[in-house]
Amino acid sequence: MPHTAAMPPIIATLHAEHVHLTRISALMSEQLDAIDRGAKVDSHVLYEIMSYMVDWADRRHHPREDLIYGRAAELDSQLADDVDSLQRQHDAMAKTALALLKLISRWRAGDVSGEAVVSAGRDYVANSERHMHSEEQLVFPRIEAVLTAADWRELELDDRLQAAGDPVLGPQVGREFRNLARKLRRSTRRRLERGVVTEWAGLESIMESLEVLSNANRMALSATGDTLRSAVQESLDIVRKTPVTAGPRCVLNNARLGGRWLGTLATITIDTLIDLARIRREMRQQLEALATL
Ligand SMILES: [Fe+2]
Ligand SMILES: [Fe+2]
Repeated sequence: MPHTAAMPPIIATLHAEHVHLTRISALMSEQLDAIDRGAKVDSHVLYEIMSYMVDWADRRHHPREDLIYGRAAELDSQLADDVDSLQRQHDAMAKTALALLKLISRWRAGDVSGEAVVSAGRDYVANSERHMHSEEQLVFPRIEAVLTAADWRELELDDRLQAAGDPVLGPQVGREFRNLARKLRRSTRRRLERGVVTEWAGLESIMESLEVLSNANRMALSATGDTLRSAVQESLDIVRKTPVTAGPRCVLNNARLGGRWLGTLATITIDTLIDLARIRREMRQQLEALATL
């Protein structure tokens, strides 16, 4: 959903809360992935995440949405079905979150397997993401179209709709969530760094692949016929058309082309394959090093 200055303040607040919830869900997924691969995790972080979902999402975020949805449904009967379904989801999510919190407690006590937590946790994250997606994409825009400026002014006077400070991502971090807030900052920083460096690693490899192929192309032009030239051209085209996203695809395709060359031009192909294999190995090493950060 585009975040514009014209967005009613209440919707802008709910949208900002969705961004927060998405960040917490991403950290939850990271924790679940770590449990799944048998890595050592701080089990209290997962407990804090679910406590946050129960305390914040289910007790502060969803009830405010329910009030706005109710008002919009009164004015537009076509919205009533969607609103009804979202409100039911709020009830179901609150029950699931409490059950998951209990499951996590039992897992921390050693009474339940990590697998059970991973499975239930992933279901919870997927549900929550689907729910927010429906709100952002389908319901918020229609509510904005239905409610007038006067309706929003009236809603803004309702004490129950006053924005409450987010206990993890707001200006005042709740004592019980300090560990989670720290973990979240670290995770976000790591994601940013990894995103930037992964892109850099991919670009480096593409540029090198391009250079290797250009050299091979030059040699092929003087040494052989149409088949090899078009094979090289095909790979160069992939790089040109999708320069950023085509990294691994390009390397794989280059290797495939390299295989095709083998019977045709042994000398050029062997040199090219050696270069491409080195590039692929270096890219994998860079990405593996990043994954351990
Ligand atoms: Fe909701
Ligand atoms: Fe929501």
